[in-house]
Amino acid sequence: MTTSKSLHFVTLLGSLRQHSVNAMIARALPELAPEGVSIELLGSVGDFPHYDADLQEQGFPPAVETMAAKIKAADGVIIVTPEYNYSVPGVLKNAIDWLSRVNPQPLAGKPVAIQTASPGLIGGARAQYQLRQSLVFLDARVLNKPEVMVSAAHSKVDPESRQLVDQPTRDFIARQLAALAAAARA
Ligand code: FNR
Repeated sequence: MTTSKSLHFVTLLGSLRQHSVNAMIARALPELAPEGVSIELLGSVGDFPHYDADLQEQGFPPAVETMAAKIKAADGVIIVTPEYNYSVPGVLKNAIDWLSRVNPQPLAGKPVAIQTASPGLIGGARAQYQLRQSLVFLDARVLNKPEVMVSAAHSKVDPESRQLVDQPTRDFIARQLAALAAAARA
């Protein structure tokens, strides 16, 4: 009998908002993970200062070093983010810029899945493709499919409990996590 290697994934969240729908999705991921996969939410990208090469010369900020080490040690990364002005939110791009300067660069060769959520009809698809572009430069192994773009996201969460409640969305996300696990084990 063969047993699958257990995996540990980390989640990078692109919203700082307290009642963020993307945060609700990010918090649901551990329940939706396949057997043998644990998922941990990383610290807030809001703890990173604005990227400045002069600041970097004085040493990486502790929040950057901590996140880089967790990503480096993880078997995969899930990025969950809103779309701002048809693009990646500045706070997430800023985090990616910092992480990209750490040596060894923690996202290089790392399996990555992207999830976007928006109240709009195309679920943050434009931000998702812009994020993929940056991840090419970082040499991450970005999962192609399934693509998780949660449209009308506010109707898929319960504002009281702040949980992702829409079952088809939960099932679809579970399929993506299974695909990421398969990619990480390949
Ligand atoms: C948005 N929003 C948005 N939505 C979208 O689908 N495409 C977009 O380009 C934008 N642009 C945008 C810019 C800015 C500055 C804000 C504040 C918002 C709406 C956005 O998807 C919505 O506020 C989400 O609820 C944000 O995600 P969280 O914080 O709920 O996870």
